[in-house]
Amino acid sequence: MSATPGAGPGEALTAALTAATEDRVVYDLAGIGRSHDALLAELPGVRVRFAMKACPVDEVIAVLARRGAGIDAASPGEMAQALRAGVPVERVHYGNTVKSDRDIAEAYRLGVRTFATDSVQDVAALAVHAPGARVFCRVATGGAGALWGLSDKFGCPPDDAVRVLERARELGLTPAGLSVHVGSQQMTGEAWRTALDDLGDVLRALSGRGIRVDHVNLGGGLPARGYRDRRGNPLDPPLDKIFAVIREGMDDLRRVHGGPLDFVVEPGRHLVADHGAIRAHVARLAERRGADGVRRHWLYLSCGKFNGLYEMDALQYRLVFPGHPDGPHVPAVVAGPTCDSDDAYSHEEGLVPVPKALASGDPVWVLSCGAYAAGYTTVGFNGFAPLPYACAGRAERTGADG
Ligand SMILES: Cc1ncc(COP(=O)(O)O)c(C=O)c1O
Repeated sequence: MSATPGAGPGEALTAALTAATEDRVVYDLAGIGRSHDALLAELPGVRVRFAMKACPVDEVIAVLARRGAGIDAASPGEMAQALRAGVPVERVHYGNTVKSDRDIAEAYRLGVRTFATDSVQDVAALAVHAPGARVFCRVATGGAGALWGLSDKFGCPPDDAVRVLERARELGLTPAGLSVHVGSQQMTGEAWRTALDDLGDVLRALSGRGIRVDHVNLGGGLPARGYRDRRGNPLDPPLDKIFAVIREGMDDLRRVHGGPLDFVVEPGRHLVADHGAIRAHVARLAERRGADGVRRHWLYLSCGKFNGLYEMDALQYRLVFPGHPDGPHVPAVVAGPTCDSDDAYSHEEGLVPVPKALASGDPVWVLSCGAYAAGYTTVGFNGFAPLPYACAGRAERTGADG
């Protein structure tokens, strides 16, 4: 077996990938359960609300729900799926600040009572369509240090957050909390420190106006471990430091608040990315001269940006070629199967060593793509269908399992 440098898949994923004779995404449910438990060990007492946009797969949701997690849902469609998968409605919140009147009313009809917000317009709509609901205001972050910053579209500056929650109170809603998102695949502890400091400022200002929230939602952003950057270097996030900063920040916020304060996290990729992999196959290993006259190898895979690997514009995935344990490698541009030139890694940034003897049909395992692979897929661009999925093994039972 040959892999680009880095750790291989765990035992359960390896068995499932080996057994797969057709392309599919494979999830290791036990591994996802272990990630959840490890997160709770790092941040004791925090409530987990899995950002199901990262992996809208019933079995994954059910495993996490059995361990006590809830769901950060972005739409009524996600809420309905989470409820069907067994998540109690009181553990589902509406985490999207963007929602229509109809979305709000439908969420309320489903029984959801906790909503994210970041504008007085959204608050006014919540007062009409979700009367009496609990609202938490998202405070904007800069997004520096993250692969995906999430900085512009969501959240308001600290001063505005105070005004938004005051308006919520005036309209009969319950100003229940504050939230942030430090950016997805956040690679620094500093971004957390800045966000937590901002939250402290807002808590102080709120208490000056007689508003006492009951929780802080720390959002997503916790990184996956197994990615490579666009040049193929391991990303290696400083998780110990990140958790230390978050724990310290939580203690500071409790002190500032001076009363009971619950904490929520909304991890997405951190829980699932490294416990999912794609079994794909080689379409062709070709050698061509480019428009710049340079001769390069191109490894065309059966899946790419439009059916599973949407994030290949920002990172590289580790590849395993199970039929090629030895033999010479060649540097290649890795690309998906469609007629779209975006469906490829950039050759200026990172060529990937691949076995020279690869033939059409050979299996390829794409590692650490358990996050956002199932959801970010076109319905069939160029006729390449979304990949089916399978779950490897059963989740380990824990005391929390029913
Ligand atoms: C509100 C919210 N929470 C959590 C997440 C999950 O983020 P991540 O996968 O970086 O943990 C997202 C992702 O976009 C989000 O929008």
